[in-house]
Amino acid sequence: MDPFIAGMPKAELHLHIEGTLEPELKFELARRNGVELPYSTVEEARAAYEFHDLTSFLVGYYDSMRVLLTEPDFYDLASAYLAKAASQNVRYAEIFFDPQAHTSRGVPFDVVIRGLRRALLDAERLHGIRAQLIMCFLRDFSAEYAMATLLESLPYREWIVGVGLDSDERGNPPEKFAAVFARARAEGYLLTMHCDVNQENSTEHIRQCLEVIGVDRIDHGVNTLDDPALAAEAARRGLAFTVCPVSNAFVTDGPKTDVVRRMLDLGLRVTINSDDPAYFQAYVAENLELVRRELDLDRDDLVRLERNAFDAAWLPRTTRDAYITELETYAAA
Ligand code: ADE
Ligand code: ZN
Repeated sequence: MDPFIAGMPKAELHLHIEGTLEPELKFELARRNGVELPYSTVEEARAAYEFHDLTSFLVGYYDSMRVLLTEPDFYDLASAYLAKAASQNVRYAEIFFDPQAHTSRGVPFDVVIRGLRRALLDAERLHGIRAQLIMCFLRDFSAEYAMATLLESLPYREWIVGVGLDSDERGNPPEKFAAVFARARAEGYLLTMHCDVNQENSTEHIRQCLEVIGVDRIDHGVNTLDDPALAAEAARRGLAFTVCPVSNAFVTDGPKTDVVRRMLDLGLRVTINSDDPAYFQAYVAENLELVRRELDLDRDDLVRLERNAFDAAWLPRTTRDAYITELETYAAA
């Protein structure tokens, strides 16, 4: 690992907490909760992490969640991630969680969010890492279920900074959730959506994100560059993209670092993130390292990527500026 990347103050903006479930913790939770796993060792579990597209990844991803049942399980999951992130000098993280992946199994919403929230508070005290939660709707479930989940979240409004949309994009366009996201906006949530790589109708979905939903950010979104008018509009809006190179390499035909290069050259606000680091075996520093290697980035380029991330964070301007000053002080030293 490049020591400059390792020590650089970083922000992580695309991180599914359920995607941080490392095999070791999965076994511990399975034992604690009496859940049977389809493998008998950590090595076997890791070897089963083999995917060729988003759909095949999601099958194992959701199956693994069967071990997450109680408030302490969600606390342990988020605590492990935040300790790991802090060890890479991630100073700030925006963390996706998928309540419907749990409520659909009979785990109550409040069990999920209370465990996560407690971990965030403890991690800030223990490691100085700050984090906020983004609630994602599963796009392969109905819009009605998403709306019910949105309403269920309202008592916890102060614990959630925004909402997102994830899971299987095929046949589940942004406009399916237009009413849910309009209500979320009215409740004060910020908005983001996954536009996964090389999906059916990728550029149409990105267009809907901009024109129908009015997103504040796009997760992945690398196909924006397939349409010059979309790219120009994203640049005009200063829209941020949370790109995840190692994830792309697992679920598409490559890490799409060439797109990162072109986004930088076009002045788009591209950021580098990890997505589901336990499954793709790369946290944010390893993702930055891959991009540095493939694009032969220098320190200024790396600082620019991290400045983009702090700039795009859903935090007050003064807080973002304080992180950027910390980054620039590090780079100058
Ligand atoms: N859930 C977890 N990771 C995801 C991704 N990259 N795309 C869609 N849904 C996800
Ligand atoms: Zn994702």
